[in-house]
Amino acid sequence: MRADLAALPPYRAGRSAAPGGPPAYKLSSNELPFGPLPSVERALAALLGSVNLYPDFSGAALVGRLAARHEVDPAQVVLGAGSVEVVSQLVRALAGPGDEVVFAWRSFEAYPLLVAGAGATPVAVPLAPGLAHDLDAMLAAITPRTRLVLVCTPNNPTGGVVGHAALAGFLDRVPDDVVVLVDEAYVEFVTDPGAARGEELFARYPNVVVARTFSKAYGLAGLRVGYGLAPADLAAAMRVLAVPFGVTALAQAAAVASLDAASELDARLGPVIAERTRVLAALRAAGHDVADTQANFVWLPLGARTAEVAEHLAAHGVLVRPFTGEGLRVTVGSPEADDALLLALSTAPG
Ligand SMILES: Cc1ncc(COP(=O)(O)O)c(C=O)c1O
Repeated sequence: MRADLAALPPYRAGRSAAPGGPPAYKLSSNELPFGPLPSVERALAALLGSVNLYPDFSGAALVGRLAARHEVDPAQVVLGAGSVEVVSQLVRALAGPGDEVVFAWRSFEAYPLLVAGAGATPVAVPLAPGLAHDLDAMLAAITPRTRLVLVCTPNNPTGGVVGHAALAGFLDRVPDDVVVLVDEAYVEFVTDPGAARGEELFARYPNVVVARTFSKAYGLAGLRVGYGLAPADLAAAMRVLAVPFGVTALAQAAAVASLDAASELDARLGPVIAERTRVLAALRAAGHDVADTQANFVWLPLGARTAEVAEHLAAHGVLVRPFTGEGLRVTVGSPEADDALLLALSTAPG
């Protein structure tokens, strides 16, 4: 085995209720609290009788739909089994031993794993006070070895966005041969008009790649489908590294059906965003120091109390995502789940 793998902390998935144990609200993985739309269910049901067949290798129908939606060439669209696979393809297409990949920290915990897994060197730049990406420090971290910068907006797990003008100013200063990924896994939840708009930056800067997913706002996390917008030559390299047939026929069909039902799905976002406002206000009223969030989760910076509070919440049937010593990431769930969270938090230790 590669000796360096032993040093990598494994990815930790959000906790689920124990099989056979008491039921619990799962607010640990930023999932949507709704099941699939009827039209998406029908599209899935229609395919159940043909799962003996491999999916369309290139995902042409979905790629075509995404290209039209984003007004790009189909050659600039790359599919992945979730956007995490798209990020993985990108990292491996650009970086190997001796190369560096810069990202903010704390951010999506798969980043350092994907970079180190490619044999490249992760360069983690601490978030600024107030939890914003420290773009000046990220720029200063770029060296001749840097191949890629990962920008996560809204940032997982802290929820804040990178401003559009600030990111454009950053891109003006990044060397042309360094690619910048704008990871927009949660972009559909954004209401701040000043937030970065990856699609526009992709149109303007030849070194920008955008990653999007059907897992979050589209509610298809269990099917695993995401995509990237990338310059055609880089997209071709990423496709070479994709797991062949990684995006299943069910995932492709559900994604197409979701795009057909975009207005119905958009209508579901309003209640999530309203619930986010309610939860934030309730947390603040209870004395918690919670930063603004533009995603479907909130960040509770509990420091040394984090693990203990996470256990207390679990004991009260609410599962959240602890980052020990730092804070809790809590998904905005159904009003019922969020009420359970708020009640359990009110009796938390400390
Ligand atoms: C910032 C960010 N990017 C990408 C992903 C990957 O999501 P998926 O692979 O389900 O598209 C996640 C999932 O949590 C995420 O938080």
